[in-house]
Amino acid sequence: MKRLALAVAASLAAIAGSAPAQETPPVSGYQFLLPETQALQDDDFANPGMLWVELGGKLWDEPAGNGTSCQNCHGAPEAMRGVGTRYPQWSQTEGRVISLEQQVNQCRAERQQADPFGYSSQELVSLSALVMHQSRGLPMSVATDGPAASAYRRGKAYYETRRGQLNLACSNCHVDQVGSRLRGEPISQGQVNGFPIYRQLWQDMGSVGRMIAWCNDAVRAEPLAEGSQMAVELELYLRSLGNGLAIETPAVRR
Ligand code: HEC
Ligand code: HEC
Repeated sequence: MKRLALAVAASLAAIAGSAPAQETPPVSGYQFLLPETQALQDDDFANPGMLWVELGGKLWDEPAGNGTSCQNCHGAPEAMRGVGTRYPQWSQTEGRVISLEQQVNQCRAERQQADPFGYSSQELVSLSALVMHQSRGLPMSVATDGPAASAYRRGKAYYETRRGQLNLACSNCHVDQVGSRLRGEPISQGQVNGFPIYRQLWQDMGSVGRMIAWCNDAVRAEPLAEGSQMAVELELYLRSLGNGLAIETPAVRR
């Protein structure tokens, strides 16, 4: 991480006064991958992310707390097709925008009367991957109006605000520098249509929250805590940037 931050400082010192952002159509991070990484994502037998989807499938059928399982109330996971396209979404019960992970934990706590999973736990990432995977190929379509409008505005403001020792906003890289190389790595639009993703760098599956924290760290900013309201609202904004992009879960990234 230290090496990345130094490389970032060196290569981005020059873009402090870069051109204003232009409106470009959303492009999946998939398009920025090497062909061999694309091939890994495309092959369900080779895609490491499918292991988390499978684990999610096991948890789906497992009774917890009061003896109920996800399956008891929701039927087969396939019944979740389309659900993942809408999250984060406004929750009437909570009176705020919640992520898919938080919705799963809400069922776990209230419907199953079991301890909620840790936000970055393997269990929650797996269930989230399972649910998102059911929507593979469907266009993302989060709502940014109505009760979600103020969360959307806060997410957008966060995205555009410079922070950290390198004084960079998300948009300075993922809007202004798309296609530029950072230590040989092309910078993508930072789309989230493949999440949770299997990241080769992590050798692990990660949520949008984990990726946000990683990018915060890259500019030496205080990482947003995964599952914090600000992180969920930033995720809403990120998903809205990709509205219309096909969901790829589980995507493979470098
Ligand atoms: C006792 C029944 C019950 C169990 C068990 C249960 N749920 Fe739910 N779940 C519901 C109900 C009812 C709703 C819709 C009402 C709401 O939004 O709270 C719901 C909503 C959801 C949604 C949002 C659906 C949408 O259209 O937005 C997801 C995702 C979900 N559940 C996942 C899970 C997972 C994963 C598990 C197992 C860890 C689980 N649920 C366990 C009853 C249950
Ligand atoms: C210094 C440049 C830089 C900044 C600033 C930055 N990122 Fe990133 N980000 C990267 C790099 C490099 C990657 C990995 C390659 C890629 O997909 O662009 C990445 C990847 C991502 C991805 C994964 C994309 C995919 O297809 O899986 C997301 C999401 C993301 N960033 C979000 C953010 C958010 C949100 C912020 C602001 C908090 C941010 N980034 C700030 C450099 C940056």
